[in-house]
Amino acid sequence: MTIQTLGVIGAGTMGNGIAQTAAVSGLKVVLIDVTEQALAKGMAAVGSSLERLVAKGKLDAAVRDAALARIETSTDYQRLAAVDLVVEAATENLELKTRILKQIETIVSPSTIVASNTSSISITALAATLAEPARFIGMHFFNPVPLMPLVEIIRGLQTSDATAATVAELVTRFEKSPINVRNSPGFVVNRILVPMINEAFFLLAEGVATAEEIDAGMRLGANHPIGPLALADLVGLDVCLAVMEVFVEDFGDPKYRPCPLLREYVAAGRLGRKTGRGVYEYA
Ligand code: CAA
Repeated sequence: MTIQTLGVIGAGTMGNGIAQTAAVSGLKVVLIDVTEQALAKGMAAVGSSLERLVAKGKLDAAVRDAALARIETSTDYQRLAAVDLVVEAATENLELKTRILKQIETIVSPSTIVASNTSSISITALAATLAEPARFIGMHFFNPVPLMPLVEIIRGLQTSDATAATVAELVTRFEKSPINVRNSPGFVVNRILVPMINEAFFLLAEGVATAEEIDAGMRLGANHPIGPLALADLVGLDVCLAVMEVFVEDFGDPKYRPCPLLREYVAAGRLGRKTGRGVYEYA
């Protein structure tokens, strides 16, 4: 099976990035969210991202226009009836994702693949909530989706070989590189990346160095493109905290204890770039 049409649930940072990537690759996209306002915000982000790529000479204006024309937005899940693959990219919440996935399954055709972009929830557990778990898989994209070349393909215990092969082929059509990962908390990248970010918060809380110095340390001493605290602001401090909480819960190992300062910032609504303030302030 070759995927030609894609449904995306959630027009937030990840969802709109996935919609953009698919549309640029020639797929028809149905982007779903609960309000017209959320859809308009998502499409504005797609528009400005495509604009940056055109301005830098990385994308033809004609490709941008064709991509924008391929994205349909809707608040109605029934619009997913004819898509080949649905990627759920809603808020990182088990109860919400379960409800959405069950709803998707009542609308799509029996051959439609259902994927989740979850960064921390068990693919096996999500699959188990579906009537046909063999068609369910994890497709984990990285922020900012249009620029980041990796997609983790996570097979739950129930995922079929055909589902995994179809999704891997699609990822290469997106001009991204897949890695195959067995279901495990945080998969591969977040298992390494988020504890590093958490450790940077401990350094900040202990006053070992300033935020700028911690970030400069990892940029200049480890060649990371941005420092861990700037990365936390990009990813969202709430997302980082949610991932650490899953690690503590699932592994039962105190080495994953979330830094209290990370909790404090999240409690204050300092979630990073998306709220204008995280570790740093944004205009
Ligand atoms: N769309 C299009 N272009 C974009 C863009 C977007 N959304 N964001 C940035 N760009 C472009 C800029 O226009 C710029 O283009 P030029 O190089 O041609 O000038 C280029 O990307 C670099 O941008 P900036 O100068 O603004 O900033 P930068 O040099 O720091 O690069 C970055 C931005 C590519 C995001 C870089 O900082 C980076 O690679 N950061 C690390 C990202 C990362 O680790 N992501 C993974 C997060 S973890 C995750 O997502 C998983 C999870 O579940 C938590």
